[in-house]
Amino acid sequence: DKPLTLLGIESSCDDTAAAVVRLEDGRGAILSSVVEGQAALHAAFGGVVPEIAARAHAERLDGVVEQALEQAGVALDRLDGIAVTSGPGLIGGVLSGVMLARGLAAATGLPLIGVNHLAGHALTPRLTDGLSFPYLMLLVSGGHCQFLVAHGPETFQRLGGTIDDAPGEAFDKVAKLLALPQPGGPPVEAEAAQGDPRRFAFPRPLLDRPGCDLSFSGLKTAVLRARDAIIAEKGGITRQDRADLCAGFQAAVADVLAEKTRRAVALYLTLAPAQPALSVAGGVAANRAIRARLEQVADGAGLAFTAPPLRLCTDNAAMIAWAGIERLRAGTAPGTDLTARPRWPL
Ligand code: KG4
Ligand code: ZN
Repeated sequence: DKPLTLLGIESSCDDTAAAVVRLEDGRGAILSSVVEGQAALHAAFGGVVPEIAARAHAERLDGVVEQALEQAGVALDRLDGIAVTSGPGLIGGVLSGVMLARGLAAATGLPLIGVNHLAGHALTPRLTDGLSFPYLMLLVSGGHCQFLVAHGPETFQRLGGTIDDAPGEAFDKVAKLLALPQPGGPPVEAEAAQGDPRRFAFPRPLLDRPGCDLSFSGLKTAVLRARDAIIAEKGGITRQDRADLCAGFQAAVADVLAEKTRRAVALYLTLAPAQPALSVAGGVAANRAIRARLEQVADGAGLAFTAPPLRLCTDNAAMIAWAGIERLRAGTAPGTDLTARPRWPL
């Protein structure tokens, strides 16, 4: 295993990111990881505006790449390759990243590797915790919600996922309903800690159906109805009402995630993994109540539980560089899949 140093580029949503990651003695080290968020640009619109995102990526990418190389103390011609997110995501942003990476590769002659953004998330626990294949992964963020078994750097088995909203999206919408700030996860979690999770009997969507698919859009609607019922009855909601709504909502999300994780674990264990492990990633993994439940499920089934640090759970380019390293190490011919793809299931 010879050392490998890769530049990673990520621009598929609303973070412009570049990173340098080095593989040495079988372990990955992050030499730099620059993430420039665009929250302020999109705040006034209540969501990410694709055109604004694409323009911001196009303007900022080269500067972010320069910073990443400088912070790592690595010159472009000392790299062993360039990895770039080539999908799935907002196409304008993905294209900006892909075109820059192509230009850099053409100028340097370095190998170019197109990385699936979801594979980047899914391979992160190998960078942070050295997990060995196969491990079970739950991706839970504002944009993703799926169970994957990672068998190899390019082999992922999807066990199930949301059929509508991602849980982070539900947290954000519930926060909006209750006039709490965005992103909604942290304030809803804080309110929930003060509330009674049993006051409102919110649904546990899809628990009655077999399998690992999830649904969160009905839950958000149930919170809306409960809020409106209180307002109709009393003319407004009190602090305690709000806390109880948050507690009931969070308990429902946690119950659903825990039960579906239990099922995914059972499927995963039929593979008889040598070192069984569950890893969670994504912004929602920051929720202490949810995390504790998932950890319980892992403990109960004899699985090691890991969660990468939050800055590596949320969108970043270190995960893209690492995924590129894994692909090079596995001997994948680089460059063959380098077209920007808005949709690209793992
Ligand atoms: O992974 P992430 O930063 O971005 C993507 O969606 O790709 O995840 C952000 C999501 C937001 O919806 C946010 O509300 C949610 O993660 N989140 C949380 C918490 N912290 C962030 N959800 C629940 N509890 C939290 N403590
Ligand atoms: Zn992501």
